[in-house]
Amino acid sequence: MTLEFNRLTKRFGEHVVLDAISAQIPSCSALALLGPSGGGKSTLLRIIAGLLISEKGSLCLNGILVPNREGELLHYRRAIGTVFQAFNLFPHLTALENIALPLRLAHGMSKVEAQAAAFALLERFRLTEHAHKKPGALSGGQKQRVAIARAASAKPKLLLFDEPTSALDPEMTAEVLDLIGELRAEGRDIIIVTHEVGFARSVADRVIFLADRKIMESSTAERFFSAPQTAEAAAFLERILKY
Ligand SMILES: Nc1ncnc2c1ncn2[C@@H]1O[C@H](COP(=O)(O)OP(=O)(O)OP(=O)(O)O)[C@@H](O)[C@H]1O
Ligand SMILES: [Mg+2]
Repeated sequence: MTLEFNRLTKRFGEHVVLDAISAQIPSCSALALLGPSGGGKSTLLRIIAGLLISEKGSLCLNGILVPNREGELLHYRRAIGTVFQAFNLFPHLTALENIALPLRLAHGMSKVEAQAAAFALLERFRLTEHAHKKPGALSGGQKQRVAIARAASAKPKLLLFDEPTSALDPEMTAEVLDLIGELRAEGRDIIIVTHEVGFARSVADRVIFLADRKIMESSTAERFFSAPQTAEAAAFLERILKY
């Protein structure tokens, strides 16, 4: 993928969260968004997902201008899979139905096709025995795997993850990170916001470091982790690697 931000600005009321950020991200397959809490990572990811509209400036994904009108965004969103930290599964649907329903409603599959596709994904993500459970009867890691299966179900070229492991214990975290690694190895592009710096380092080829409403660094992962260029990024890495 390639990404280009051109003076992209986002405000919530008076509060400026992204202040005219500009960057050109050359072709990469896995981009990590890193930075301190409140720095605007989730906001930027939601703009890339087409879930939030920016006030000013523009964003191009793979050379195409991301629309900023609701009607056009609906179409844009279908090409992207998103997984956010609070497992947004429908509580009244089973794991199988959670995956099958969007395939029917947004992607035009018949009920039989959608169920078959959903079942195949559950099998692949080692969730077959949980197909008929509702989210309330699943563990955190299982819920997150269902959410990832759902995001991957329409075979989007781009998958976005916002702290997909923040609610998981270390074992579940490893499982979910393996799954994301597999999706990347399959040729999906990914953008991930994560506090798992080890994972970011192993999976990402590019990094954007966001802090204080700005992109402080945009560089290759190798350079970012071995030789951060700003004092802010160096301090951030030191803090995070200390524990
Ligand atoms: N819907 C909203 N309305 C008002 N302010 C918001 C809204 N969403 C986010 N903000 C504010 O925007 C700023 C950036 O938030 P954002 O969630 O993008 O940060 P983040 O980098 O993802 O932080 P974290 O690492 O804690 O998840 C914060 O100061 C937050 O309070
Ligand atoms: Mg966030």
